[in-house]
Amino acid sequence: ATNRTFTMIKPDAVNNGYIGAILNDIVEAGFKIVAMKYTHLTGGTAGAFYAVHKERPFYKDLVAFMSSGPIVAAILEKENAVEDFRKLIGATDPSKAEAGTIRNKYAKSIEANAVHGSDSDENAAIEGSFFFSALEQY
Ligand code: CMP
Repeated sequence: ATNRTFTMIKPDAVNNGYIGAILNDIVEAGFKIVAMKYTHLTGGTAGAFYAVHKERPFYKDLVAFMSSGPIVAAILEKENAVEDFRKLIGATDPSKAEAGTIRNKYAKSIEANAVHGSDSDENAAIEGSFFFSALEQY
C-alpha cells in the first residue's frame, strides 16, 4: 500500500552542502515530498523528538548534535515507504551502510549520520506530526 515516512536531513549533511543531493536521491527513488521545512531544533525540541532514547548513553550527545545547526524535516509518500526509505538510507552506522545508500555516500559517524528515517508506520505518523500540522500534511 502507499504510505508515508518521516525524514530529517541532519545538521552534518546540511552543513556539508548535501541538502540538494539527498533530496535528489529521495525523489529519484520514487518518493513524493508531501511536506517539507528548513528549521533549527533547540535542545528542548530535539530532546522531545528523541525522548524514546532518553535512557540511552548517547542521548545527551545526540540532542546536542541535533540542535547544533539547521535541519530539513520532511514527510515522504511512496508504496512501502517506511521499509523502502530505510533501505535507501542504509544502516545507522555509515561504516556498515551498503554502497550507494545515502548514509554510505554522505555520512561520517553513527551520530552524524546525515539522515533520520522512521522505523515504523506508527512512528512515522508521530514524528511527522511533531513538525507539521494536520493541514500541512493533508
Ligand atoms: P536516528 O535514526 O536519527 O535515531 C537515533 C539516532 O541516535 C541515530 O539515528 C543515530 O544518529 C544516533 N546514535 C548515536 N549513537 C548511537 C548508537 N550507539 N546507536 C544507535 N544510534 C546512535
